[in-house]
Amino acid sequence: MLIMSIETSCDETAIAICENGRKVLTDQIFSQADLHAVYGGVVPEIASRSHVEVISQLAQRALTVTGLQKSDLDAIAVTYAPGLIGALLVGVNFAKSAAFALDIPLIPVHHIKGHVAANYIAFPQLAPPFLCLAISGGNTLLIDVKDYTDMEILGATRDDAAGECFDKTARILGLPYPGGKHIDTLSRNGDDTKYPLPRANIEGSLWDMSFSGLKTAVINLVHKAEQKGEELDRACLASSFTRAVSDSLVPRTMALARELGYKKIAVAGGVAANSRIRQDFETAAKNEGVELFIPPLSLCGDNAAMIGCQGYYEFLAGVRAGTDLNAYANMEL
Ligand code: KG4
Repeated sequence: MLIMSIETSCDETAIAICENGRKVLTDQIFSQADLHAVYGGVVPEIASRSHVEVISQLAQRALTVTGLQKSDLDAIAVTYAPGLIGALLVGVNFAKSAAFALDIPLIPVHHIKGHVAANYIAFPQLAPPFLCLAISGGNTLLIDVKDYTDMEILGATRDDAAGECFDKTARILGLPYPGGKHIDTLSRNGDDTKYPLPRANIEGSLWDMSFSGLKTAVINLVHKAEQKGEELDRACLASSFTRAVSDSLVPRTMALARELGYKKIAVAGGVAANSRIRQDFETAAKNEGVELFIPPLSLCGDNAAMIGCQGYYEFLAGVRAGTDLNAYANMEL
């Protein structure tokens, strides 16, 4: 079964064609990061306009590089929530038109379920149930993946997402947007014990997380140093910060897996690209005898292949949408 999938929830326009869910024939991605970098963050209106400008060409390119015709496609899958509403609407309307014109099924896909599915592409042997930590620019979720389409959120950030915290901290350190990967690089030569930073725990809720206090602690540290005319060691600060984020994510995920009796843990989303977090997960999983699944960097960030893969399982579960499909900025899993 050939599915063309479309992802426009934020600042990547992406179109993929996947065969039977897990085989990616092409995954075309146009990143808008350069357009937003000058503003230090994603500007929703610019994101929507840029999606409109490139989406048709990207779809055509996906067909050209695979040597397929439009008539070869069996279904269209599209991210319809959550995300920037204007950006989502571009993908949803393109998908509705394509499915209607080709008279093939339209499959709505939840963006976070797509991130989870990135692991199915990377690891052919992986099947639910397992625990997944989804860490991206907008979400930090501990998800019980009971089945391909049946998932339950057991823990979440109460404020900033982990990726948002990386990006805001990067901005304070004078690094370009999106800052996560720059903090990652900078932190590699730093002493992670030099700056003591807080790790938040939520009273009465073991699995929920919080990152805004950590972000504020870095802001205060930088401002105090500026006022005193002191030079901060940016590599050590980036390293201490990353360690604090990792300490909030890794032990908590391991503990929840233990609680649920799961021997399989997956990590997904843009922040899963972080080298320190990957390393800490690998060490923890080895110590506990748990199987760990973290996609390669190309499948951590937003892409359409993961939407096509999840779309396949949604299709098998009977999920379809009509031409009245809408986009939603927020939606439960
Ligand atoms: O999943 P994603 O591409 O988009 C969303 O759906 O949000 O995640 C983007 C986030 C950004 O906050 C970015 O700074 C972060 O992932 N990120 C990283 C790294 N690479 C990307 N954070 C930490 N370390 C990295 N290497």
